[in-house]
Amino acid sequence: MHEPRPSNMHIAMVSVFPETLAVVRDVGVMGRAVRDGRLKLSAVNPRDFTVDRHRSVDDRPYGGGPGMVMRPEPLAAAIEEGKRLAGEGARVVYLTPQGRRFDDRRARELAREPGLVLLAGRYEGVDERLLDSQVDEELSIGDYVLSGGELAAMVVIDALARFLPGVLGHEDSAEEDSFADGLLDCPHYTRPEVYADRSVPQVLLSGDHAAIARWRRKQALGRTLERRPDLLERRENERVLTADDKGLLEEYRRERLEVSRRAIEDGVANREEATRTEGRSRDDGASEVLE
Ligand SMILES: C[S@@+](CC[C@H](N)C(=O)[O-])C[C@H]1O[C@@H](n2cnc3c(N)ncnc32)[C@H](O)[C@@H]1O
Repeated sequence: MHEPRPSNMHIAMVSVFPETLAVVRDVGVMGRAVRDGRLKLSAVNPRDFTVDRHRSVDDRPYGGGPGMVMRPEPLAAAIEEGKRLAGEGARVVYLTPQGRRFDDRRARELAREPGLVLLAGRYEGVDERLLDSQVDEELSIGDYVLSGGELAAMVVIDALARFLPGVLGHEDSAEEDSFADGLLDCPHYTRPEVYADRSVPQVLLSGDHAAIARWRRKQALGRTLERRPDLLERRENERVLTADDKGLLEEYRRERLEVSRRAIEDGVANREEATRTEGRSRDDGASEVLE
C-alpha cells in the first residue's frame, strides 16, 4: 500500500494571542500532523507590527460607542507576514459571527487550498476597510458571539486538516464520520457487551459484515431523520437518496413504531400490575385493621 502524499499546507493564524495556537498544534491528531510535517501552523502577532510605545492594535471607534476596534495597519502587516509564511497564493479568511456558516463542505474545500491566513479578531471587531481590502472570505462557526476569533480559527484548522492526505491514521475514517455523505454517523459501541442494563445490538456481534454495514447505514439514515431532517431533505432534493436508502428508512420507521408500541403495552401492563398490587396491599391493610 502506498503512503498518501504528505500535505504541504501551511496555515498562519493572525492573532494577538498567538500562544492559543498550542491547543491544536501540540495535542492529538493535529499535533501528530504537525510533527509529521503534514501540516504547518504559524501564529503571527499584529503587535509585532506596531510602531508605538504601547504596541497598540486597537483604538476607539469613530462615531463613539462602547468597545475598541482593531486598527487596520498592524493587521495588514501581520496578514502580509502570514501570506509570506503560508505562501503567496494563501487565502485570507476572517473569522466573524457575520460570516458564511462554516460546515463540512467548506472544510473539505479549504483543505484543497495551498495555504491559509486566518484572521482572529478581538474587541468589537476589525476596521471595515481592512476587511474590504485584505480579506477574501468571512466565516462564522455559529450563531453566537465569542470574545475572540482564536477558537473559531482553531475549529476551522481542526476540521479541515482532517481532510489533508495522511492526517487521519486510516484514510477512510473521515468518510465514515457525520456529514461525509450528508448523513449523521451511526451509533458506536465497544466493550463491555452489557452496560447499564443495555446490550450491544446483536448484529454487531454476528461477524456478518454485510449485515453490519446494512445496519449501520439504516441507523445513520434513521438518526438523520430524527435529529437533522433538514439534511435528509437536502439529499432528497439533490436526488441522491437511493431506493435502498429509502427502503432502509422505511424499515427504521417500522422498527421504531414497533419499539414505541411495545413500550406503551409494557407501560399499560406495568400500570395494571401496579394497580393490582396496590389493591392487594390495601386489602391486606384493611384486614389487619379488622383483625
Ligand atoms: C466580540 S467579537 C465581535 C463581534 C462583533 N461586534 C459582532 O457583533 O459581529 C470579537 C471577535 O470574535 C470573533 N468571533 C466571535 N464570534 C464568532 C463566531 N461565531 N464565528 C467566528 N468568529 C467569531 C471574531 O473574530 C470577532 O472579531
